[in-house]
Amino acid sequence: MKNIVIFGAPGAGKGTQSDFIVEHYGLTHVSTGDLLRKEIADQTELGKRIKSIMDAGQLVSDDIVIEMMDKAIANDTKGMLFDGFPRTVAQAEVLDKLLAKYGRELTCMVQLEVPKDELMRRLLERAKIQGRADDNEATINNRLQEYNSKTKPVADYYAAQGKQKLIDGLGTIEDIAARIRQAIG
Ligand code: AP5
Ligand code: MG
Repeated sequence: MKNIVIFGAPGAGKGTQSDFIVEHYGLTHVSTGDLLRKEIADQTELGKRIKSIMDAGQLVSDDIVIEMMDKAIANDTKGMLFDGFPRTVAQAEVLDKLLAKYGRELTCMVQLEVPKDELMRRLLERAKIQGRADDNEATINNRLQEYNSKTKPVADYYAAQGKQKLIDGLGTIEDIAARIRQAIG
């Protein structure tokens, strides 16, 4: 059973490539961003608490996402693709413990590498089509800052475990999907 993390900056293509990976390996896709946006759309108590944080492009607290992930792993039988999680070293350490608790282990971490100007271009393009609340230039800059200060260290965490697979995230969506399949094997 495979359990994989897809990793990269905002706009790197995590969601886009997740579709191909879950299809190819028969995994359950879990995106913390999608789960959190659903809480906001449903106007739950949690949704009301996190809306202003997400609109500002900041990370929500580790406790909130860890609780969500514990439930998601407990309910899964196929193996999982984690998209947007872990985003801090503390989350990465907890993910290892959670997987162990359910008798699993992380297979690898797939890191999409895309330069900043292309990230900005993609997200501003998506803003015109989808209108996600955090896709505007000021908030994208905050998201990139959060990524650089809090999330990038997670890459070193997986490199130290020998689980990091670096993927060139520029090119056509199909070419990148093929690179990922080759890296995962
Ligand atoms: P999240 O939803 O995870 O957003 P993100 O990391 O900012 O990334 P995106 O979803 O914007 O980009 P993506 O990498 O999925 O790229 P996509 O495939 O869409 O998180 C949102 C917020 O939730 C966070 O800011 C935080 O507040 C909170 N949060 C979530 N997880 C958390 C956690 N673990 N801890 C704490 N807080 C958390 O592609 C982007 C665009 O580019 C699309 O339009 C796509 O069509 C296009 N595109 C994709 N590939 C290509 C290509 N090869 N060429 C051209 N265009 C492409
Ligand atoms: Mg996404």
